[in-house]
Amino acid sequence: MFQKEIYQNRRAQLIEKIDSGIILIMGNQESSMNYPSNTYKFRQDSNFLYYVGLNLPNMAMIIDVDAKKCTLYGDDFEIDDIIWMGPQPKMTELAQKSAIENTDSYANFDKVVEEAKKQNRKIHYLPPYRGESKIKLHNLLNIPFDELKSQASTDLIKAIVAQREVKSDIEIEQMEIACETGYKMQTTAMKMAKAGRKEAEIAGVLEGIAHSAGGNVSFPIILSQNGETLHNHDHSQTLEIGRMMLVDCGAENEMNYCSDYTRTIPVGGKFNDRQRAVYQIVVDANIKAIEAIKPNVLYRDIHFLACEIIVDGLKELGIMKGDTKKAVELGVHALFMPHGLGHQIGLDVHDMEDLGEDFVGYDDKTKRSELFGTAYLRMGKELKTGFVLTVEPGIYFVPTLIDIWKNENKSTEFINYGEVEKYKDFGGIRIEDDVLVTENGYRVLGRPVPKTIEEVEKFMSENMID
Ligand code: GLY
Ligand code: MN
Repeated sequence: MFQKEIYQNRRAQLIEKIDSGIILIMGNQESSMNYPSNTYKFRQDSNFLYYVGLNLPNMAMIIDVDAKKCTLYGDDFEIDDIIWMGPQPKMTELAQKSAIENTDSYANFDKVVEEAKKQNRKIHYLPPYRGESKIKLHNLLNIPFDELKSQASTDLIKAIVAQREVKSDIEIEQMEIACETGYKMQTTAMKMAKAGRKEAEIAGVLEGIAHSAGGNVSFPIILSQNGETLHNHDHSQTLEIGRMMLVDCGAENEMNYCSDYTRTIPVGGKFNDRQRAVYQIVVDANIKAIEAIKPNVLYRDIHFLACEIIVDGLKELGIMKGDTKKAVELGVHALFMPHGLGHQIGLDVHDMEDLGEDFVGYDDKTKRSELFGTAYLRMGKELKTGFVLTVEPGIYFVPTLIDIWKNENKSTEFINYGEVEKYKDFGGIRIEDDVLVTENGYRVLGRPVPKTIEEVEKFMSENMID
């Protein structure tokens, strides 16, 4: 945990931004895998981590905005729990670590909410994403399950996003730790990417690196020779020369701050001519997009810059043609890059996505596009100092999508389908780094993971293990 004053100050700032009523910040419960007591690794709610910092299940906090009073709800361990789980701090000791003045039993959380409801006080809650929280809020507030998200407090969501999206120096220090683990995961994948090795063996080692560093993976590892499937969690193939392995992975450090990197590397360590040509376009898009990062720029414009670089590159390969800007404006690039340039990252790998992507990535000035591909841009709004973003352009050849567009004769003035056909067995390439917006520009977090063709080939030739 950070020092208790950090949490106290964050709560005081939040209180200033909310007019009146009570704020519910729900901690997470254990989550069962296949029978109640066999649970997944516990993951605390990120808002709870941000305002309370305690990484234990079965707690919740209520902030009474009018009385400027915070209360932590939870129960002390009984002897039965202690036998199985060892001695645990009392609730009062836990509350002190976060400078919370008041504690009460978990059952009394419900009573306070019910009382506030009777008094017609405004009850600010966040969109729940776990079953237990949904059931609790539904029972307490009498809101239908399918309206829990839409009736969540917009004032609270906006206040939290404004606070959490600007990372402080101590948060960046934590993210650097997560990046160091991400560096180890990515470079280990490079060392292991030898023909004949199973994807699963590499994915398992990478997962172990995240756990060994005291945390967890920041999302299920994406590792596949079929990189054209954007979130491919199938690791059943054996690596073959002539194919590329896409590895998209990151770690959460002990304090749950995240990293998220993607590298796409040639099996065996040497790019062939076709791989080299497509890779160079993506690396150019990654580097030029990063270089364009600075405060007051719309991230959507940097996304379009990356898309234009991709279209220009594909034109050189004879895959695309026509006016680059027009192609991007019409969303034609999305045949090859059907996703956005990146997202905010922090205590969540897609930071604050539980609060609603449009609240995090868009605002009154910047609205989400409805065009296929461009609509998937998670982050479009103006950048501010302290934001941390992923920059992750890619080029993918998705056979099913290519067939659909081709059969519809879609955008034939921009696409040479005859050429595209030749790449249907290529797979996909994505290159991703985590970047802090600074006062004057940007800083790429973490140790540089080999990225250019020269760096990747050199690293793999010097470090490949049997
Ligand atoms: N790295 C996975 C994602 O950004 O969705
Ligand atoms: Mn990402």
